[in-house]
Amino acid sequence: MANAKLLLSDLASSIDCVPSRYVRPVNDRPNLDEVQSSLDGSIPLIDLQDLHGPSRSHVIKQIAEACQIDGFFRVKNHGIPESVIHGMLSITKEFFHLPESERLKNYSDDPLKTMRLSTSFNVKTEQVSNWRDFLRLYCYPLEDYIQEWPSNPPSFREVVAEYCKEARKLALLLLEAISESLGLERNHIDKALGKHSQQMALNYYPPCPQPELTFGLPGHADPNALTILLQDDVPGLQVLKDGKWVAIHPIPNTFIVNIGDQIQVLSNDCYKSAVHRAVVNCQKERISIPTFYCPSPDAVIGPAPGLVDHGHPALYRKFTYSEYFGKFWNRGLATQSCLDMFKT
Ligand code: OGA
Ligand code: NI
Repeated sequence: MANAKLLLSDLASSIDCVPSRYVRPVNDRPNLDEVQSSLDGSIPLIDLQDLHGPSRSHVIKQIAEACQIDGFFRVKNHGIPESVIHGMLSITKEFFHLPESERLKNYSDDPLKTMRLSTSFNVKTEQVSNWRDFLRLYCYPLEDYIQEWPSNPPSFREVVAEYCKEARKLALLLLEAISESLGLERNHIDKALGKHSQQMALNYYPPCPQPELTFGLPGHADPNALTILLQDDVPGLQVLKDGKWVAIHPIPNTFIVNIGDQIQVLSNDCYKSAVHRAVVNCQKERISIPTFYCPSPDAVIGPAPGLVDHGHPALYRKFTYSEYFGKFWNRGLATQSCLDMFKT
């Protein structure tokens, strides 16, 4: 049984061509040349420093515009110390460089597990695999989950916990600003998310011998409320903008923020849950670390009453986040979004 590896990273280093289960149909490939030639379409860079001063309303307006148009923006002066960012990226690399037997202690293909190392997206339901391994962690409330996290590398829990706390502070700041930008009470989204939940993925994309045939992650919208993405210095993220894929280049010490499906629903479609994807390359491994800020499983989500009136009927029915999340994983990223399943 050659190639009977659970994880891609343990297979990728020993092959010169992409195994057939990773090869996408011809009409569903990255078209790397096409994207590289349309490099211009960058996303707005918003300075969060100004949220704390007299220019707050200006920043709120920038956020509103970005969320309406693309559902994507970049932030600087976000308050997360450089050392914490650096520590998080380093420990992730260390984790994925551990011996296979050590990493595999964390393996599971059950999407509902609160801690698991896995590969691709959902190996149980998908037709074509993706060029990615990932460690998925629930991280709020921290004390409920930290004990199940990997204990190797030895400082893993401490370093990741520190990052999670900082990412949560940033998420709360952004959720207030986003509520305000919708004309809602500052704490509207905070309340709508119930007890809140926070998850993260540590994504590891090994170098790929034929990056034109496969995806790290195919086009999708995130099911959560808000995503805060930390990435290393290797490009790979692309955003769908006016029907075209645009490469988003890494800028050190900034984060990419994107609206997820729950805020699209809460905003009654004022804001867009942006479709994005990750491509791979033949030279360098890439690490990305999205924080998925979410409602708690029992929170009931629906369009904010303040955004619904005669002229703007509710576009979605109410649902619990656990119902939404279950549907998201079962569908195996075969369609870009599962919002349609909840439309009125
Ligand atoms: C994700 C995701 C993008 C990236 O994990 O949901 O979109 O750049 N990742 O890895
Ligand atoms: Ni995503």
